[in-house]
Amino acid sequence: MDARPIGVFDSGIGGISVLRNMMRLLPNERFIYFGDNKNAPYGTKTEEEILELSKRDVQLLLDKSAKAVVIACNTATSSAAEYLRQTLSVPIIGMEPALKPASFMRKDGKIGVLATPATLSQKKFQNLMERYGKHALPISCAGLMEFAERGEIEGERLEAFIGELFRPYSHISFDALVLGCTHYVFLKRAIAKVLKNANLVDGNEGTARQLKNVLTQREMLTDALEGGAELITSGDSERLLPLMRRLLAAEIE
Ligand code: DGL
Repeated sequence: MDARPIGVFDSGIGGISVLRNMMRLLPNERFIYFGDNKNAPYGTKTEEEILELSKRDVQLLLDKSAKAVVIACNTATSSAAEYLRQTLSVPIIGMEPALKPASFMRKDGKIGVLATPATLSQKKFQNLMERYGKHALPISCAGLMEFAERGEIEGERLEAFIGELFRPYSHISFDALVLGCTHYVFLKRAIAKVLKNANLVDGNEGTARQLKNVLTQREMLTDALEGGAELITSGDSERLLPLMRRLLAAEIE
């Protein structure tokens, strides 16, 4: 039994979508969430920059006695998970675009993989493509996460942006779309409105289950009767903390 908190970080508010799943699955655990909003986006930075920022994010969580760290960000996972696992003794849980489950949904169309430019350019994603990407089409979505960061999770401007993003693929039929960035989960409704008929798949539930498995195996679950989450940001707390709380409670399905 281990009553210390679970650390979670993302470049900004995207990881709050993962925190929702984790809090639902592990209601007795305490979570400390760090959003590095000041340095967002990570997805247009170099691998080295993302690694340096991720190291700092993790250190902040370890300084707050985190017993495990969840990288609630596909981009930071690609650049930093391996390094962090090699250098730290706490469990590190990462994320990758949910291409594997989405590949089973294919009928005769394509599987679109929406992710940041950094995620798509990494070796980790190339490996994933080799295994499950026979019918996948990676779609680089620079500029999309900013809508979620602003709290603009619906509306005409967002729908127009998504429409533009998919214009080059208007002749393609998508059986499923992988939301390969945790920010995009908050944009689900708008994406579904623009791209009717495609199944939207994200890795949040799988990540929450993975966290539970790892903590169970290592006998690190808490025996506390009540959990909760402390939210921290490197950005403008006055604007961002209410937004984070709102998104943590929002209906997004
Ligand atoms: N939320 C992050 C992810 O899952 C990326 C957003 C960013 O570009 O910072 O990939």
